[in-house]
Amino acid sequence: MELQEAIANRRSYKKFKHDMHIDDDVLYKSIERATDAPNHKMREPWRVVHISKDRLGDMSRDVGQYAFKGEDEKKQDHYNTVTKLGGILALIVKKDPRQKQNLENYMAFGAFAQNLMLLLHEAGIGTCWKSPQYIFMPEVRNVLGVQDDEDLVGLLYLTDQEERVAHRKRRMKNLITEY
Ligand SMILES: Cc1cc2nc3c(=O)[nH]c(=O)nc-3n(C[C@H](O)[C@H](O)[C@H](O)COP(=O)(O)O)c2cc1C
Repeated sequence: MELQEAIANRRSYKKFKHDMHIDDDVLYKSIERATDAPNHKMREPWRVVHISKDRLGDMSRDVGQYAFKGEDEKKQDHYNTVTKLGGILALIVKKDPRQKQNLENYMAFGAFAQNLMLLLHEAGIGTCWKSPQYIFMPEVRNVLGVQDDEDLVGLLYLTDQEERVAHRKRRMKNLITEY
């Protein structure tokens, strides 16, 4: 696949209405390949926790007890949604107490994440990066094994590509100005 084509046609898949399956071998290979992203001082400030298809229900129950405390309907909705996915990756960036290095780590993570989404797109696996408010909850971080010197920056939902998603047009407002 042409790079330009992959960039233009990758989409965020947001409807998870049927049971989906993905090839975990392809997923693992793509994660390894995505690490060719630029990262300053080769700190490689990324890691993922793979919640495989057969653990999605457990994860939903473990996270839901904190994320949707006292909201049984939301808990059930979350369970019904995520158990249909092909898997989830918890996206984890290494923090750095130094301001500059911390910025570099976050930016490198973004490059890694885009690499990964493009590689998965090429392999026929759909993605959607989710950043719900509960990723900041200490209990949820704990469930997912996030350490004190790490941040949980999202959950990458893994799906098939059966849903047709229209291109979400960019405005490119004030994108380029002359010096
Ligand atoms: C850091 C980040 C966080 C995101 N969080 C969410 C989210 O919480 N829920 C969601 O439905 N989409 C989320 N998205 C996906 C965007 O909504 C999506 O990229 C945007 O609508 C553009 O669509 P496209 O990816 O199909 O081009 C997120 C994307 C990024 C990069």
